[in-house]
Amino acid sequence: MKTAALYAFVALLPTFANAQAQTWQQCGGIGWSGPTTCVSGTTCTKLNDYYSQCIPGASSAPATTPPATTPPPTSVPTSVPPTSPTTGTGSTPTASPNNPWTGYQVYLSPFYAQEVTAAAAQISDKTLAAKAASVAKIPTFTWFDTINKTADLGTYLADAQSIQKSTGQKQLVQIVVYDLPDRDCAAKASNGEFSIANNGQANYFNYIDQLVAQIKQFPDVRVVAVIEPDSLANLVTNLNLQKCSNAQQTYLACVNYALKQLSAVGVYSYMDAGHAGWLGWPANLSPAAQLFAKVYKDAGSSPFIKGLATNVANYNALQAASPDPITQGNSNYDEIHYINALGPLLQQQGFPATFIVDQGRSGQQNLRQQWGDWCNIKGAGFGTRPTTNTGSSLIDSIVWVKPGGECDGTSNSSSPRFDSTCSLSDADQPAPEAGTWFQEYFTTLVSKANPPL
Ligand code: BGC
Repeated sequence: MKTAALYAFVALLPTFANAQAQTWQQCGGIGWSGPTTCVSGTTCTKLNDYYSQCIPGASSAPATTPPATTPPPTSVPTSVPPTSPTTGTGSTPTASPNNPWTGYQVYLSPFYAQEVTAAAAQISDKTLAAKAASVAKIPTFTWFDTINKTADLGTYLADAQSIQKSTGQKQLVQIVVYDLPDRDCAAKASNGEFSIANNGQANYFNYIDQLVAQIKQFPDVRVVAVIEPDSLANLVTNLNLQKCSNAQQTYLACVNYALKQLSAVGVYSYMDAGHAGWLGWPANLSPAAQLFAKVYKDAGSSPFIKGLATNVANYNALQAASPDPITQGNSNYDEIHYINALGPLLQQQGFPATFIVDQGRSGQQNLRQQWGDWCNIKGAGFGTRPTTNTGSSLIDSIVWVKPGGECDGTSNSSSPRFDSTCSLSDADQPAPEAGTWFQEYFTTLVSKANPPL
């Protein structure tokens, strides 16, 4: 599936050795085998050893970066690649006490926009196609789910910086940090590329270093990160599973490293906190608060560690009109109840956390057979648009973290990452591998959007 995801991505980029790279695309760096010259009007500019990019404007500097031959380091931890001497400040950033989104425009992921535009072009119904195309203008988070994708962050940050310069409107780039070793320890659909048994922790540190190396180059662009969906929540409730208990110390060490390194370059972080139907059960709230507060303190209580992200890639309403029958027994039947219950417990533990809530696929409610079902839920629609107008002082922003249309997991039972949850009766099928485009699902999200598109 990773491979499939990578193919999907690469297909959107220039792949022929003889072609010229387009504006903002990669044109060199260690491991790069694509084009090393840029279209006219842009210059291939080295951002770091791993990444050169076609940046608008002529330059007196040579216009190409020689193609490198060494593969990118995926198994050996290296120090942070050298940063360009002309960018990056080296000074310690100061966290704003305010809502990180205030005063910023959210940068639109060109990758998601391309996915959406290509998908809309395949819809024959003109009205539906126009609605589908409009989704390209709604900001989502960009998931860095493999180390190979980390170089793309530089592309997006450079693009955001250039928009910022030309419009005077400050830009905020939303990312998901998602590459833990033994990832998705309680399920299979999103198992990742690193394993604890095979140098996973060092590989993960290297992955974080790669992200940080990109971010350092663009100190003027704000970055907000969701940290490792499902990981800490699994440590609260799933330590009875061998893979999760085995991963516990590594997850903690990796999240600690991510939080510290990202805080040091001024990234605002929200740790993933599952959702109301997971950590929102009364018995789970207090252990969850203790764990998140400990992780926050162990990472130095940085003011850049803003709080928690809930409902990532899930389907709960922020405020349900009435409780879905499947939530019976849990008074925290929607995200606002969950957040209102967890927030004060975190405060008591010394973590002044605020929240962000994914509503990307929460437009329709009462769809599931069981609350724990999470895979490509049938009949889901796009939900409330991203906004800082959240109705709660505990919530910084309603966001779309999961890019709607990207799959949750395959329904093909012969795939190594097949999780039986993805073939339940409330899961849309046939479904491709996690992270790859699921056209039929996207079309339904569009037609069932609430509010409508
Ligand atoms: C997948 C990732 C993907 C993300 C966003 C996750 O379920 O495992 O590969 O990037 O969803 O679509």
